[in-house]
Amino acid sequence: MKVKVSRKAHFNAAHRLYRPDWSTERNDRIFGKCNNPNFHGHNYELIVSVTGDVDPETGFVIDMKVLKELIRDEVENAFDHKNLNLEVTEFKKLNPTAENIAVIAWNRLRPHIAKDKQLEVVLYETPRNFVTYSGE
Ligand code: NI
Repeated sequence: MKVKVSRKAHFNAAHRLYRPDWSTERNDRIFGKCNNPNFHGHNYELIVSVTGDVDPETGFVIDMKVLKELIRDEVENAFDHKNLNLEVTEFKKLNPTAENIAVIAWNRLRPHIAKDKQLEVVLYETPRNFVTYSGE
């Protein structure tokens, strides 16, 4: 019997989407307003889900307190109120799109989740735009 438990988290961060090896014109065409050289911010919402067996002793898949602290330490503290391009190592050479932010968040969390449990992250960049990554 597998149960999926989820925790919502939040962070504000600035980013800019562009490729230094592309012309300004091409960056504008592909990335639009997200190529603003002065950066811009988003209110990101992150939903982290862990799926696994319910421990018969505790009744937990994962202790929510542990999950909450893990998200705080690995994602919120790393990304919140940061300029992702300039201040987060993983994005020095990687565009901080919603897709890539979800992958980096997953990569940061995965080593701390038991191997027999599945991990999924859903990242909302806006209330209407969101991406999902589960390690595939
Ligand atoms: Ni943006």
